[in-house]
Amino acid sequence: MPVVAPANSISLSSTVSLRSPFALAPMAGLTDVPFRTLAWELGAGYMVSEMVTSKAELWETGKSRLRRVLVPGVNPNAVQIAGHDPRVMAESAKRLVGEGVEVIDINFGCPAKKVCRKAAGSALLGDIDNIGRIVETVAGAVDVPVTIKTRTGLTIEDEAGVLAACVAQEAGARMVVMHGRSRACRFKGQASYEKIQLAKQKLNIPLLVNGDIDSLASALKAREISGADGVMIGRGAIGQPWIFAELVGMPLPNRQQQLQIMLRHLKLMHEFYGPEQGMRIARKHIEAYLGRLGASHLCRAFMSLDSADAQVVWLSLQSNGALAFASNAPVVNEDHTQMTSAA
Ligand SMILES: Cc1cc2nc3c(=O)[nH]c(=O)nc-3n(C[C@H](O)[C@H](O)[C@H](O)COP(=O)(O)O)c2cc1C
Repeated sequence: MPVVAPANSISLSSTVSLRSPFALAPMAGLTDVPFRTLAWELGAGYMVSEMVTSKAELWETGKSRLRRVLVPGVNPNAVQIAGHDPRVMAESAKRLVGEGVEVIDINFGCPAKKVCRKAAGSALLGDIDNIGRIVETVAGAVDVPVTIKTRTGLTIEDEAGVLAACVAQEAGARMVVMHGRSRACRFKGQASYEKIQLAKQKLNIPLLVNGDIDSLASALKAREISGADGVMIGRGAIGQPWIFAELVGMPLPNRQQQLQIMLRHLKLMHEFYGPEQGMRIARKHIEAYLGRLGASHLCRAFMSLDSADAQVVWLSLQSNGALAFASNAPVVNEDHTQMTSAA
């Protein structure tokens, strides 16, 4: 049974809706086109691209171009932009819409130094007026819904995120995603949903709760405490994109099917990035799958492989051998420190 009936799905405009209230979070370096392709097939109701800089001079770098690629069949295709200059951000939003993007999401949550040094991401929680100007200018420049993603505040005590959400709503934002941590918390401690509940009371646009959701039980708990309209899942989907199948009530893939999904993911990465870069990017994903499948002891062998073909051969062999019989690890939100350091 689906956990939430389709009638509860979220509308961003008269023509743009979320397929279900279970969204995949944007994660730079992780939720790329290959991962989003699988997450969508496995039931994710909404997905946002990895963060793209709004700086025109970086538009044509390989990284920016790959992050802007739309995923075929996905609706709506949402791309996230980061920056601090309203006019520059509006220009990049217009360009993205020209490329077919159907939702523009603005990042007011990233605590990474290289983003905050440029007064973007969560640094803007210290300049709420500029959040209002950015949302108003971007929303005025494009005819697609504009949404924001933020944190609860600058510190655990303040409510800057709640204020930012209200200001963004006034300025024309059509949805807010709130991560239940402050900027100062980065990724430490447990996410807390109380401030998100406060935001929910004040907003009349849809709100998604985010932070530390990695199972049906934790999704239900986050929604219950926050009262949010839906949930957004980041690290909890890495190594187990089938979490969305569980949330929407689709049949869960069995062990053999999970191994096939992992192998397909590997090939999609090689295809999308090319064999060299694809081989490197595959390492963090396959490490996460092996951990989830109770086979972390196989990681070292995988990491030592030095070609895309060798990765495919190794994974195919293991899928018919050790991996087919490894006992499933409990599905927990492991502390992937190398993942959390990036944003
Ligand atoms: C490796 C990594 C990269 C991230 N990149 C982005 C990003 O590009 N844009 C963004 O808004 N949030 C980014 N985040 C934050 C996530 O979207 C999410 O808010 C956070 O991980 C908390 O949710 P979770 O506990 O479900 O992972 C990133 C997080 C991680 C771990």
